[in-house]
Amino acid sequence: MTGVAANPIDRLIREMSLAEKLGQLTMTAAGSTVTGPTIAGDSTEAIRAGTIGNLLNLTGAAAVRDMQRLAVEESRLGIPLLIGFDVVHGYRTLFPIPLGEAAAFDPDLWALTAREAAKEAAADGLAMTFAPMLDVARDPRWGRSAEGPGEDPYVGMRLADAKVRGFQGVNLSDGSALAACAKHYCAYGAVTAGRDYASVDISERTLREVYLPPFTAAVAAGVASVMPAFTDLAGIPMTANAALLKGWLRRRLGFNGVIVSDYNAVAELINHGIAADLAQAATLALKAGVDIDMMANAYRHGLPIALDRGWVSSADIDESVRRVLTLKWKLGLFDDPYRRGSTAESAEAVETRRRFSRAVATRSVVMLKNDRDVLPFPSAIRIAVIGPLADAAGDMRGPWWGAATPEGYVSVVAGLKAAMSEARVAFEAGIDVEGVDVAGGMGRALDLCAQAEAIVLCLGEAATMSGEAASRAHPHLPGRQRQFAEAVFDRARALRKPVIVILFSGRPLIVPWLIERADAVLAAWFLGSEAGNALADVMVGRVSPSGRTPVTWARSVGQIPLFFGARPSGRPANPMDTYTSKYLDVPNDPLFPFGFGLTYGRFRLSNLNVSRDSVTESDTVAVRVDVTNEGTRTAEETVFLFVHDKLASVARPVLELKGFGKIRLEPGQSGTVTLPLAARDLRFLGLDLEPVFEPGEVEILVGPCADRSRLLAATLHLAPARP
Ligand code: NOJ
Repeated sequence: MTGVAANPIDRLIREMSLAEKLGQLTMTAAGSTVTGPTIAGDSTEAIRAGTIGNLLNLTGAAAVRDMQRLAVEESRLGIPLLIGFDVVHGYRTLFPIPLGEAAAFDPDLWALTAREAAKEAAADGLAMTFAPMLDVARDPRWGRSAEGPGEDPYVGMRLADAKVRGFQGVNLSDGSALAACAKHYCAYGAVTAGRDYASVDISERTLREVYLPPFTAAVAAGVASVMPAFTDLAGIPMTANAALLKGWLRRRLGFNGVIVSDYNAVAELINHGIAADLAQAATLALKAGVDIDMMANAYRHGLPIALDRGWVSSADIDESVRRVLTLKWKLGLFDDPYRRGSTAESAEAVETRRRFSRAVATRSVVMLKNDRDVLPFPSAIRIAVIGPLADAAGDMRGPWWGAATPEGYVSVVAGLKAAMSEARVAFEAGIDVEGVDVAGGMGRALDLCAQAEAIVLCLGEAATMSGEAASRAHPHLPGRQRQFAEAVFDRARALRKPVIVILFSGRPLIVPWLIERADAVLAAWFLGSEAGNALADVMVGRVSPSGRTPVTWARSVGQIPLFFGARPSGRPANPMDTYTSKYLDVPNDPLFPFGFGLTYGRFRLSNLNVSRDSVTESDTVAVRVDVTNEGTRTAEETVFLFVHDKLASVARPVLELKGFGKIRLEPGQSGTVTLPLAARDLRFLGLDLEPVFEPGEVEILVGPCADRSRLLAATLHLAPARP
């Protein structure tokens, strides 16, 4: 029991009219925000009438309270509203985009940012977030790569667990807890050719091995709700996918929370071509297990017809109503609908969160190159900060800016000026994001290079070029930025000045030429409110970069999809043999492997040790590796634990991630990273797609990234269970 009030659910279900029940199964936007068109008009009367029971996209404690008051005090049954919002990477204080945060490879940090975002959103009266986004993404053309964990299911699982715990806190009824919503169930990341909302068609094995595990982890962590993907899977739209919603999610995984459709997705079953009208669309979705219809009004208008036609029963409707009311009950809304949003946060709490955002942002930066140690800057250096993203404060927000205002972000220029003294930092954008020379800015930017000792060139995407509905067939630098960059490199070479590129993007941009020409490159994703300060912290050496890319970084669009967990070929690439698996025009290997990222330290890994030679399914081993910082600066190293099952009944990926850890070491210092490995996690899906623990040998591979040549190896024997 969470509240002091007696559980009113049975009584309410008995007393509710059909229209009121359908109201509980409806979620309507209160205004427009980052996502989708505003379909709904004024919902005030419908809330009073009890025919809208849930809202999204409402912000501000006063506005939330006013709406809640209408439902609680002016509707017949006084059922509180469930009010949700896309708190994806922060609410007002923004953290790095999820792909950037994934680069920190730190589950405690992932949980803490969710906790902070939940506190901030709950202080506005909100009770639900449409996050975490758990779509494994292996195609950088897909703009939504920005919103999730990257390419690997294990990372997705760790992120799912951390985020759900962070958003939901210890107890859902707590005034700072939000109901999390694991989305988009499932395989949305596999959209054809990376085009948003396009069809998905993958094997059952890939579905189970790659796309489902993060959702399994979210359910295990107690996630309160799940959102089906917009897309179809082999012809069955997820919003109507009874086998995966009712079958897999509810029955197999035991999920008994609320399934909320995506925006207008129930009505879109008509566009998918599996429903003739709203009544049929609503029937398919309800029968598949979707409890709340977000923005389609299909339940409100279609289900009464479906009931008349005998397509759905009152019991079907009641089952969903019960789940929605149960969630409201668990959130403590019946007990005190104003628990969230009653106490404004102190200025100090907001300030502390802002500092935390800066620390998180520094940990998300991935240093891809640093020739001749041009970074960190010596304190007395004069720098020219140029490029379209150099002073683009608003773009630092990234694609899901929550309820944050357009102001209040720290650009690179501002961050560097604050860190280095005004006089040493000169700025000229040169061009806009599309590469258009604005009023001779290009010439001025090039001139500025002559007066500086180092050039910081800020390039990449605008915030809105990734995220939803932001697929790009050419995930390169947008517009004519390349021409500008080449001119800068030419000038810098003539002047013998180093160029440090800061690359902003919601995906790994495919820019091998840029990496080649730059002296140093920082992948900055979109780092949120404190982006410029965090980048300055890294550039002046207050913090050593420690982020690692959570996606394999392709060198050519033609290599997509490119990921480390690929299966071996029967004809592995061999340059001496024509008939092997390779391209004629581009190498197979990526520009940067998964997990790649430089630091200001220099690390050596040695003495890989596995605590036992042989395990049975119930054992756990400790995998240990010594790490030494042979560099001259304190830094943090990330260590990855992969396995490879070389001989099994089903071909296993060449590398499978099973763990990661971090260690911070001073110059000359050594330490040991210990990673637990449960033998159970070495099971795989056998020929019948059920988990199997096959005796044999597994390679244990430990190192700084998914580059096979840099991994230390040991062998672990898997033994049959002792009788
Ligand atoms: C559409 C997006 O696909 C989803 O992620 C989001 O939660 C909803 N709109 C609501 O904003």
